[in-house]
Amino acid sequence: MDKKATVIGAGNVGATAAMRLAEKELADVVLVDVLEGVPAGKALDLTEAAPIEAHDSRIVGSTNDYAPARDSDVVIITAGIPRKPGMSRDDLLSTNMGIMETVTREVAQVAPQAVLIIVSNPLDAMCHVAHTASGFPKNRVLGMAGVLDSARFRAFIAMELNVSVENTHAFVLGGHGDTMVPLPRYSTVAGIPITELISPERIEALVDRTRNGGAEIVGLLKTGSAYYAPASAAVEMAEAVLKDKKKILPCAALLKGEYGIEDLFIGVPVKLGKEGVEEIIEIELQAAEKEALNRSADAVRTLVADMKRLG
Ligand code: APR
Repeated sequence: MDKKATVIGAGNVGATAAMRLAEKELADVVLVDVLEGVPAGKALDLTEAAPIEAHDSRIVGSTNDYAPARDSDVVIITAGIPRKPGMSRDDLLSTNMGIMETVTREVAQVAPQAVLIIVSNPLDAMCHVAHTASGFPKNRVLGMAGVLDSARFRAFIAMELNVSVENTHAFVLGGHGDTMVPLPRYSTVAGIPITELISPERIEALVDRTRNGGAEIVGLLKTGSAYYAPASAAVEMAEAVLKDKKKILPCAALLKGEYGIEDLFIGVPVKLGKEGVEEIIEIELQAAEKEALNRSADAVRTLVADMKRLG
């Protein structure tokens, strides 16, 4: 492949993302982890599946050595510890903050031109750490949350109306967490707003389920958090960058006054291409939606302040 994608953290999300990147032949893939043998083992396993899955992406694994990641076009960072039952994303803050800082510094040294896609939670806060530790311009640091939250909303809309998921579009803004802001008005089925197809009470129920989508899966898995959909979401973003698609997706991006928010990573619609965030798209929000976005921004601001206190 003429592109290289590195995935830091060869756990559930990271290994699944590596598999999808390879199977879609988007890039050669490098898996990095702190665990001895695990990234190499998973990379070899995926390589041995390649003849059956019919792809020619090369996949290599590495323990703590970032040299194979040299000149990566995209780096997806999933390193950290996942949420356990009863744990909020915010509980992960102090541990994942240290991990994010270390790995981003390593990545920045070998792949100074890469676009970073942050997946580790608490997402919006981790984007701040990665942005500072990498020293990268704001367009090359973005967080995966909105694509996942929107996909969950789309899945629930399709289930509700018994229609193809492909007909559904949904927009979820704000921080990745309980304060996310699903926008039913901008969520459509074959172009028709769902507000014309689903009752307000049922929409509220779907919105609620979307907000708690991560916790619902943690509750079922018991020993970890969701990974199939998070990996799909990260790979959709990576694909937009690797193929310079100019695709509009909701991502955590550093706002500099857009939506009236200053110096904060938060989920908004962005145009994704080879430069990363090529444009932040400002959509018209109603007063209640704006208020919800501001509440979400306040929650992220609190986390950022907590990080300053912790470290
Ligand atoms: N460098 C590289 N890898 C690391 C480091 C580090 N400093 N610290 C931890 N890791 C690795 C772990 O060894 C593990 O293999 O990160 C991997 C995380 O994988 P899982 O524990 O399976 O977690 P996962 O479900 O993949 O979630 C990863 O994504 O969705 C978020 O909340 C989730 O923050 C979590 C992250």
